Amino acid sequence: TAGTRLFSGMQPSADSLHAGNYVGALLQWRELQATHDAIFCVVDLHAITNPQDPAALRDQTRRTAAQYIAAGIDPSRSILFVQSHVPAHSQLAWVLNTITGFGEASRMTQFKDKSAKQGTDSASVGLFTYPMLMAADILLYDTAIVPVGDDQRQHVELTRTLAQRFNSRFGETFRIPETLTLEEGARIYDLQNPTAKMSKSAESDAGLVRLLDEPSRNAKKIRSAVTDTGREIVFDPAGKPGVSNLLTMLSAFTDTPIPLLENQYQGRGYGDLKKDLADAVVAVFEPIRARTLELLDDPAELDRILGAAAERAEEIANRTLARVYERIGF
Ligand code: ADP
Ligand code: NA
Repeated sequence: TAGTRLFSGMQPSADSLHAGNYVGALLQWRELQATHDAIFCVVDLHAITNPQDPAALRDQTRRTAAQYIAAGIDPSRSILFVQSHVPAHSQLAWVLNTITGFGEASRMTQFKDKSAKQGTDSASVGLFTYPMLMAADILLYDTAIVPVGDDQRQHVELTRTLAQRFNSRFGETFRIPETLTLEEGARIYDLQNPTAKMSKSAESDAGLVRLLDEPSRNAKKIRSAVTDTGREIVFDPAGKPGVSNLLTMLSAFTDTPIPLLENQYQGRGYGDLKKDLADAVVAVFEPIRARTLELLDDPAELDRILGAAAERAEEIANRTLARVYERIGF
């Protein structure tokens, strides 16, 4: 309902968002902002838990914000800001670190996966304390609802635990947030490897449809998507992951229910489906791409939008931080 505070964010870790980010995050956010008091964050503090190139990070932060706006996040309705612009995130994260158990943090699946991949000598302590920074992001804004993918559920669970722990130790301070798990239909898979989710960290970019790529390049990738044996166009993720992924995408990009699409494509071939999907993706992405490039062409205007949003965010965040500091004896 209107007035219900929602918080969500994305790392500025690529030049362009992809179709998975669009369907799984931006599309949902755009709808949620109509009914919620929404705050969307470009989480650059989280991004530096992986080694960064400073110039690239700065550029990707602006690009990510521009893509949010171009895709329909309305900065006059929602607060769209950059995490590092609001120091309270780091400040509250520190306090939360002090009430988190070492073992508790060690059990976070994402930390275990990433540190195993990087090795304990190159993995940073920042990677370890990432969940407490995420808890700070959420708790600073008295957030009621956090829309997240499966991979972040455990972090929201920890956020709830830490908020409850702080409240019982120091008195009622934080609102306890709820997770809003996005529907399975919002998950997009790699076009060349349709059992793996579409991701910027895929080994090859052949299965990745990017918001800021040339439309012709995206259309070609879609036409070359892996399909399945047989010729029937039915939604069967286990038996026909390739075709099912194309149906999921077409459904999201044309706002048409999958059963209706299955009816429409009875007796038609994979080629038709791919062509229609390519057209649909290009029709949606082309204006978003154009608007993004326009925003990036006017750095002063983008700075003005992000600066105004940071001020609104900071006002809320600092009130929470002041409450916390008072409670803990500062
Ligand atoms: P990536 O996997 O490319 O690194 P992130 O992990 O940065 O993407 O995710 C940013 C946001 O986009 C999150 O809200 C995540 O749930 C969503 N998202 C990422 N990939 C997909 C996908 N393939 N399908 C649906 N949503 C996705
Ligand atoms: Na990721």
